[in-house]
Amino acid sequence: MRSVAKAIIAIATFLFLLLAGASAQQSNPPSKNLALTPPMGWNSWNKFACNVNEDMIRSMADAMVKSGMKDAGYQYVNIDDCWQVSRDASGNIVPDPERFPHGMKALGDYIHSLGLKFGVYSDAGSKTCAGRPGGLGHEYQDAIQYAAWGVDYLKYDWCNTTTQDAKASYANMRAALDAAGRPIVLSICEWGKAKPWLWGEEAGGNLWRTTDDIKDRWGGPEKWPDGSCCSNGVMSILDQQAGLQSYAGPGHWNDPDMLEVGNGGMTDTEYRSHFSLWAILAAPLIAGNDLRDMRPEIREILTNKEVIAVDQDPLGREGARVARSGDAEVWSKQMKDGSRAVILLNRGSVAQEISVNWEEIGYPGHLRVSVRDLWEHKELGNFTGRLSASVPSHGVMMMLVKP
Ligand code: GLA
Repeated sequence: MRSVAKAIIAIATFLFLLLAGASAQQSNPPSKNLALTPPMGWNSWNKFACNVNEDMIRSMADAMVKSGMKDAGYQYVNIDDCWQVSRDASGNIVPDPERFPHGMKALGDYIHSLGLKFGVYSDAGSKTCAGRPGGLGHEYQDAIQYAAWGVDYLKYDWCNTTTQDAKASYANMRAALDAAGRPIVLSICEWGKAKPWLWGEEAGGNLWRTTDDIKDRWGGPEKWPDGSCCSNGVMSILDQQAGLQSYAGPGHWNDPDMLEVGNGGMTDTEYRSHFSLWAILAAPLIAGNDLRDMRPEIREILTNKEVIAVDQDPLGREGARVARSGDAEVWSKQMKDGSRAVILLNRGSVAQEISVNWEEIGYPGHLRVSVRDLWEHKELGNFTGRLSASVPSHGVMMMLVKP
């Protein structure tokens, strides 16, 4: 009789612990509190596309440290498509043995040894966009593998998903990652097709692409001289962010795609604008250039700590376009201390005077504020009511306005 009672108590205790464990996992999953500010790092796709290998990724991690990018806040070293070639007989994902001869765990260990974090890419469908094996049907198996490799960030693409439901697919991958027990940032790369800003947070995504792939060009509403259109240049991507600001916040960000700064298709003035705008949008700052070979001007853009501080402000507000007149725009972002980051943007082809008045940025007109130029790194003095400045073609003036 005694032993029966003991067995019942043991079973009851076991069930209690199981349930308590499960509910603790649900209310406190490993991914809780990830990406409380927009993720910062580097990704291979924009510059190297499928041309990835372990030596290149290692040297990029080294360069992230040496260039001062790590000190400026960049953390993730992310391999995009084409690291994977097949699945083995048990269905495990197989990294390209020629390009990654030491395997992914060794690469992750190296990246971690530099104090950085490790990211990989896969796809919610049967194949990735480059035709490599996707994650469909292997979500839990892959998540365990990624956790074992020390992966900290997964970009999950949307090619070859046929009739899959986007929210359910991403929620499934989030559940798999959490079940694997490692905190892994989930980057939803669904290109905005099913409006991921409406469901991305609930699906457990930490960021979600809002548009098609960025191109290394200014773009804008105008057509190109050859008559082709302007799509996915920095200006057209910017226009697609307007109105999405209320969906972003700590742990869940709109992603207007990775940076093209330094890839050669734009002028330094345009790259400065691209970087400033991404910062005021509280966008993930994922560099996409060759960090081993940066001109000082490019490094200065990517490591401008005052601009990065706008992006990384702990309040986590995304900035918005607050005024527009012809080619001139004003963007503003509320900061945690009550100040405003403000951008005067000149989309036109000649320099022009652009002004902002305090009502546009949510201050009373009589307020006296101090203004600091975040590219010149200097105080411009005190102003009441409004401020105007001459802004070069395709350029910005970016400032911090403090009551
Ligand atoms: C899609 C994504 C890109 C990149 C490629 C890789 O186009 O949107 O960012 O990951 O796939 O094939």
